[in-house]
Amino acid sequence: MDVSELPTPALLVDAAAFAHNVATMSQRWPGRSLRPHVKAFKSTAMAHELVAAGHRSFCAATPREIMGMLDAGVGDDLLLANESVDAERLGAIARAAREQARVTVAVDSDATVQAAARAGVGSVLVDVCVGMPRCGCDPADAGRLAAVARRVGLEVRGVMGYEGHLMMAEDATKAEQVEQAMALLLAAHDEVGGDIVSGGGTGTWATNTWVTELQAGSYVLMDCDYAKADLPFRQALFVLATVVSVHEGDGGWIVIDAGLKALSVEHGDPQPIGGRTWFVSDEHLTWSPLTGGAWPRVGDKVRVVPSHVDPTVNLHEALQVVRHDEVLDTWPVDLRGWWHRAA
Ligand SMILES: Cc1ncc(COP(=O)(O)O)c(C=O)c1O
Repeated sequence: MDVSELPTPALLVDAAAFAHNVATMSQRWPGRSLRPHVKAFKSTAMAHELVAAGHRSFCAATPREIMGMLDAGVGDDLLLANESVDAERLGAIARAAREQARVTVAVDSDATVQAAARAGVGSVLVDVCVGMPRCGCDPADAGRLAAVARRVGLEVRGVMGYEGHLMMAEDATKAEQVEQAMALLLAAHDEVGGDIVSGGGTGTWATNTWVTELQAGSYVLMDCDYAKADLPFRQALFVLATVVSVHEGDGGWIVIDAGLKALSVEHGDPQPIGGRTWFVSDEHLTWSPLTGGAWPRVGDKVRVVPSHVDPTVNLHEALQVVRHDEVLDTWPVDLRGWWHRAA
């Protein structure tokens, strides 16, 4: 099939850029030293490609993502890199995990330790706050939490600490800031023990030399926010849209059929190739060509570079894998949703 035959909006993955990104990351972080984060792409088919590249440990952000990976039999060491007190979902994961693969969950409080123990989840990482005000315990509390976890029968495999606030830090000071954040994590690790020090992401793939495994996800697809950082990863993700209205001339504009329901905007405006975005509304994106650029006609197809991988992928049912204008494959975005109890 030709890309132009796809109904729009459609999510495209450029096969060559994707292969380049996977190979580049695998060279620096081979095998289990990389724990790819499935939250970015939410597709077990894409995760299969990462297994083919040598990675068998994965991170996930939701119980649904873990369950989907277990159901698909992808990966043998899955980390819920997020806190949960959902007894039912943790219990279901623990039961499925015994047969399929090892599952570890992040804990940062007595309540999350107790939830993991009650659910029968065998192992945990102590999640440590390394500067971003989100999950993660006070570094000074990590040793105590590890002791509580061991007392209730959990295996404590080590620590994790996500320096998300530093992903887009200025290059001049990034290495120093990451070192300071990771000093907190390593000090906590001294108290906690275990083999694993997990952290990092696409933006710190080169500066975080402290972790035993890198948790990166966006690098496989990339977006125009991460494009501002000096990274060797290529843009592999595009939203294909159709031009539905053209107001040509000085001060004129173009409208395509991909708006907020196909593209996320919290990291800034997505950008049509060869154009400049004016604004994004529910069903539409309004833009104009760069100076000297050609005006499209109604019915033409346009590729848009998303500004944030994860929430954009989450808006689509499938990823269309393309080489130039040829659709090679369709990968379902099968890890979306919240996994509601069956009626
Ligand atoms: C806990 C955790 N680890 C790793 C990542 C990976 O980040 P990136 O998509 O920048 O590679 C994220 C992303 O938000 C995260 O929340």
